Amino acid sequence: MTESSSTQTHPIHQETKSPTIGVFDSGFGGLTVLRALLPLIPGAHCIYLGDTARLPYGSKSRETIARYAVSSAKFLLEQGADLLVIACNTATALALEDIQQALPIPVIGVVQPGAHAALAASSQPTVDGPHHVLVLATAATVQSHAYAHALNNLGLQACEKACPLLVPLVEEGWTNHLVTDQVLKIYLTEALATAPATQTLLLGCTHYPLLEPAIQRTLAAIGHPLTIIDSADATARATATLVARHFPNLASTAEPTCTFYATDSIDKFQRLGSSFLGQPVAEVNLIDLGG
Ligand code: DGL
Repeated sequence: MTESSSTQTHPIHQETKSPTIGVFDSGFGGLTVLRALLPLIPGAHCIYLGDTARLPYGSKSRETIARYAVSSAKFLLEQGADLLVIACNTATALALEDIQQALPIPVIGVVQPGAHAALAASSQPTVDGPHHVLVLATAATVQSHAYAHALNNLGLQACEKACPLLVPLVEEGWTNHLVTDQVLKIYLTEALATAPATQTLLLGCTHYPLLEPAIQRTLAAIGHPLTIIDSADATARATATLVARHFPNLASTAEPTCTFYATDSIDKFQRLGSSFLGQPVAEVNLIDLGG
């Protein structure tokens, strides 16, 4: 099953009730997708889950990631989600099919929208063959080669680089920090040494958009500026299209509302979540999804 085919396997609701959209990530990162989504879905209610107790997903096995991701997705279904956005590249890359099979609602991931965003950014033809896209992602996402497959299918050349230290640095709030700049310099220098023809940098983790200024700064410092893209906007647009298809009678102009859940660290979620979301995260509900 592909990310887009999931949109065709469920009946279209001719409903006027407001849609409830579940958005899930292992932590704060998916808030970058929610941030892009909110302006596109007036009248909707969003329920966001950050599985912070079990983060990071990106260093774990496929089986563990699938178990965590399915239980997180089922929680959002129980809270009334009509549609689910997996705002996590790792869960999309390793567990999309498991989630689609476990849930009777449309499920959309971030990898296909991210790959299409890379294609759109690489639309200028090159004389040297296909465009080269450097994908920064978690170790699990890189091992799955989900992005290499998606990009190759679109005629793009992929180089995937695992950056396991970036999620903990972002979760710590160190988005503008000397240590983070040094870590980025090592990762980017290593990656570009093996893929010098890279023209586009794809942020293959929903935590990484928070590092975009630091990445720009580091690329400038090492003399290799690149076009940086992430999947948040593309995923948000694909989700809005799906919502419109499933709720064709919805004509609300009301501000979307949000309810937040986390499995740990709710104070930190409240404190740091606002910088990911771009607006205050007023209240976070603590839940226990087990181990
Ligand atoms: N935000 C998740 C992603 O997009 C990664 C976080 C993790 O390793 O848990 O891959």
